[in-house]
Amino acid sequence: MAGKVRLNTVRDRHCDPGPPGVGNDARAICASGDLADGGDGIRFDIERKGETVPAFIVRHGGKVYAYLNRCAHIAMELDWKPGKFFDAEGEYLICSTHGALYAPESGACRGGPCRGAALSRLDVYEADGKVYLMKD
Ligand code: FES
Repeated sequence: MAGKVRLNTVRDRHCDPGPPGVGNDARAICASGDLADGGDGIRFDIERKGETVPAFIVRHGGKVYAYLNRCAHIAMELDWKPGKFFDAEGEYLICSTHGALYAPESGACRGGPCRGAALSRLDVYEADGKVYLMKD
């Protein structure tokens, strides 16, 4: 369940409830301005089935996307340094272990050893200058 969000970014981040109308169905992950298009992502943890699971959020094409931080090839975290999820061109998400490439907007494999698989997507949206994660 995505209700509990624990941020594990390099910087400490404040976590607060979602905006009015959404309330406890969402949790703020970061400020919209914290995510540059094709730039560094933000790592955070969610609770799923009683376990703490790493996840991340990035911006691409002006929109925000979040996924579990788990490669579809082998269950390894993708980033080669905390928050470094994009390839050199800022076009694809890339796994640092064997170079699998993923489409940022869908998580679908676009090259490398993840053939036919995809990242596990999380439901996020922006409102009032913040980015929110919806509960499962
Ligand atoms: S673990 Fe990600 S490409 Fe192999």
